[in-house]
Amino acid sequence: MRIVFRIGGSVVASPINTELMSRYVELLKSVKQQGHEVAVVVGGGTLAREFINIAKNLGLGMQAQDEIAISVSRLFAQLFLKKFGDLACSKVAVTLEDAAECLAEGKVVVMGGLKPGITTDTVAALVAERVGADLLVKGTDQDGIYDKDPRKFADAVKLDHLSFDHLQNVLSETVHKAGIHQIIDPEAVKVLKHKRVKLIVVNGFTPENTMAAVNGEKVGTTVE
Ligand code: UTP
Repeated sequence: MRIVFRIGGSVVASPINTELMSRYVELLKSVKQQGHEVAVVVGGGTLAREFINIAKNLGLGMQAQDEIAISVSRLFAQLFLKKFGDLACSKVAVTLEDAAECLAEGKVVVMGGLKPGITTDTVAALVAERVGADLLVKGTDQDGIYDKDPRKFADAVKLDHLSFDHLQNVLSETVHKAGIHQIIDPEAVKVLKHKRVKLIVVNGFTPENTMAAVNGEKVGTTVE
């Protein structure tokens, strides 16, 4: 399979967790060695948000803030890339074209942000679209997608399986009722829905969940 892995900055970079980063790289190396094609998209976590604040305090606009956050995410991407060694391309992909070329060379793609005005979720979806991926696995700080925000509602129920249409309803309800908590960016969902790329959202603090998702085991929430 051709698989895009989106590793949340909230998972490996808030605070920075080098042990978890190493475990991810080892695990994704074995996914690659199983014969899958692998692209990894990482976010900038709290460090990116700190830099966004610095930019804001300097009076810089939204575009500049985003550009700064993208640079931070690319720093994390570079750490992953170096840790992959020869299995990865020599540089962090900064365009979708880079990502496609890298994959065509048989290497692991590593990316951070792409352009201002989007999130890393959308980057992962755009990469998936560009390379015709079969699956996007998102490792995040919750066990999956709930019918409402589990941090706000004690009776929230985890959904094991749902359609893209149902997910869009859940996300719009969340925005409407409970503020901005978004388990996955609705923009990314639009792209995935359009291209029919299967999405599995798992708890990223246990990297083995990622492997379980690849192997078709019951884990997290599957959207298709
Ligand atoms: P994310 O919110 O996507 O990263 O990007 P994250 O740290 O992995 O987040 P979690 O773990 O899902 O919570 C951080 C910020 O970087 C900018 C945006 O401002 C975004 O909110 N960004 C990121 C871009 O402008 N363009 C990109 O392509 C990626």
